[in-house]
Amino acid sequence: MTVINEIKQKIDIVELVSDYVPLQKAGRNFKGLCPFHSEKHPSFFVFPEQQTWHCFGACGIGGDAFSFIMKKDGIDFSQALSLLAQRAGITLSAPRMPSKPEDGEREELFQINEAAAAYYHHLLLNTKAGEGARSYLSKRKVTLETTGQARLGFSPDSWETIKKYLMGKGYEESRLIEAGLVIEKEGGSYDRFRNRLLFPICDIQGRVIGFGARALDESLPKYINSPQTLIFDKGASLYGIDKAKDAIRRENLIIIVEGYTDVLMAHQHGWRNVVASMGTSMTEKQVAIAKKLTKNIALALDADAAGQEATLRDAEILISSLDKKTTPIPLWSGLVRYENVLDAEIKVIPLPKDKDPDEVICEDPGAWQNLVRQATPLLDFAFGAATNKLDISKVKDKSSAMERLLPLIHEIKEPVRQAHYVQKLARLIQVDESLIVVALRKAKGTRKTAEASLSTFSPQLLSDPIEEYCLALLVQYPELRQTAEELSVDHFESSDNRELFIRWQHSPDIPTLKDKLDFSLLEHLNYLLSKTFPVAIGEDEKMRGSSLIQCSLRLQERLLRKLEVSREQLLALENEAGGVSAQLAKLEEQGIEASKELKEIFMKQAQYWRKKEA
Ligand code: UTP
Ligand code: MN
Repeated sequence: MTVINEIKQKIDIVELVSDYVPLQKAGRNFKGLCPFHSEKHPSFFVFPEQQTWHCFGACGIGGDAFSFIMKKDGIDFSQALSLLAQRAGITLSAPRMPSKPEDGEREELFQINEAAAAYYHHLLLNTKAGEGARSYLSKRKVTLETTGQARLGFSPDSWETIKKYLMGKGYEESRLIEAGLVIEKEGGSYDRFRNRLLFPICDIQGRVIGFGARALDESLPKYINSPQTLIFDKGASLYGIDKAKDAIRRENLIIIVEGYTDVLMAHQHGWRNVVASMGTSMTEKQVAIAKKLTKNIALALDADAAGQEATLRDAEILISSLDKKTTPIPLWSGLVRYENVLDAEIKVIPLPKDKDPDEVICEDPGAWQNLVRQATPLLDFAFGAATNKLDISKVKDKSSAMERLLPLIHEIKEPVRQAHYVQKLARLIQVDESLIVVALRKAKGTRKTAEASLSTFSPQLLSDPIEEYCLALLVQYPELRQTAEELSVDHFESSDNRELFIRWQHSPDIPTLKDKLDFSLLEHLNYLLSKTFPVAIGEDEKMRGSSLIQCSLRLQERLLRKLEVSREQLLALENEAGGVSAQLAKLEEQGIEASKELKEIFMKQAQYWRKKEA
């Protein structure tokens, strides 16, 4: 048995989830209010028999014990693995989890940073030296409460304050240098941060990983940050994420600003879903952190030219953080595709010229609220960006606008949304809508429809466990990669399969994939590589392709089974007036607000069984 399965066997998901969410019995299962979105009626279910959970409401997601705490605590798979192993009383000893010699070192750096943060905070609050910094904060309208919550600190104008303090606590000089708090110099070392206001930067779990340090006057550089260390990578961190994560989930929106003070001010006024990219343009790693919490991202950026450039840069990062299988595409249409794929919504909060959120909020908190409300959907922002330099009365500029925006509209999946932007473009360049529709149709390639894959459904190939069958196909037959576009990570409920699928997506071949896996997942991969298939599958490439597509449908169907919806029921309902909607109404009666995803599955499944019947 793999170590992952061993852990799964020992952990009871009902017990685990109950630590976070009050659950009540619902037949053989349990339900409660979803911890990942806010709701009044419970649509979050836990299934003891399968040891899985699922939110049938707005989230429309589910998984196992691993994915539950990954999502709840904002941690990654290997962190979840060690947490649950601990809970299950299983030691992840070598060679299972090759414990890196770095682990102990990292742990010590966390401790050093923690001690430093506490001391700097004390110096700010309780010493005469900290007086200047205290009055600076009050001038900037930062309250004592905010100062305490953000654990702001002060580093005195001295060369050895933190060094002496931490060495007095028994830490070696060399470790302080590694932590970035002390700078090495021939024959000695000295404090990095002097006469500055300190912002401890934390990871999502609230551990101090580094510091930002602001000058108290006009001296330059304005900010000094911790250097890259074993535990700090500025480009992989979002300032404020530890304080913001709950609000981000609750409001299902993350607002990304640039600066430390912007976050402080927003949080101080109760907008807690705000984090900072810390000046630099957003990185892939930062997006990855955000994506774990919500699919709604709002970028608050200067509306002036420089700001627009920043937005564009950020946008590019968003695209490149998409699955690598997506071919490079022009900027804006790429973003629209990103929204499609992730079911994400990206908005831009345009800031007034030369003002950052801190200034807006200080001047008038209501104005910030308005700006957030006015957040422009990416497409509208793109329309503006693509046309603001054009003179639409000129024929040349008309066609230029058409050229730039048509590919964008083409990317929009939802017909209603697409129609909306067709209209918008028509109005903008004052041409007839039909002209745009024709151009659009020309551009359209053939798209595989859901129906096409349904008609080739052959149930005898789909023995359980389907997830493993699917993955085994993928890892054993590289040519299936293209077909796998039909599959999404959300189809996998089992975290080991999920993790493997994600890493497979980002690896060109199996050797590369193997390099990316630690022992527990490698164990699982080897098992999948050794799985055998029926002869027909082994010999027929086409057959493999279609059976992969069928798998994704089967994976979706599982959800319906969990709701104890039988095929017969679906069929009967489909023959009655009302059909699928009657089934949905029944769910609503039970207080379950069905997600969009669930509705789609109902439709597809009903269609399928009706076809089979005919
Ligand atoms: P800003 O210059 O906009 O600073 O840089 P700010 O946050 O508004 O600070 P105040 O209001 O002037 O006090 C935005 C962010 O860029 C990073 C910091 O994270 C800062 O919060 N930055 C800026 C640096 O890292 N170094 C710098 O020298 C300047
Ligand atoms: Mn500012």
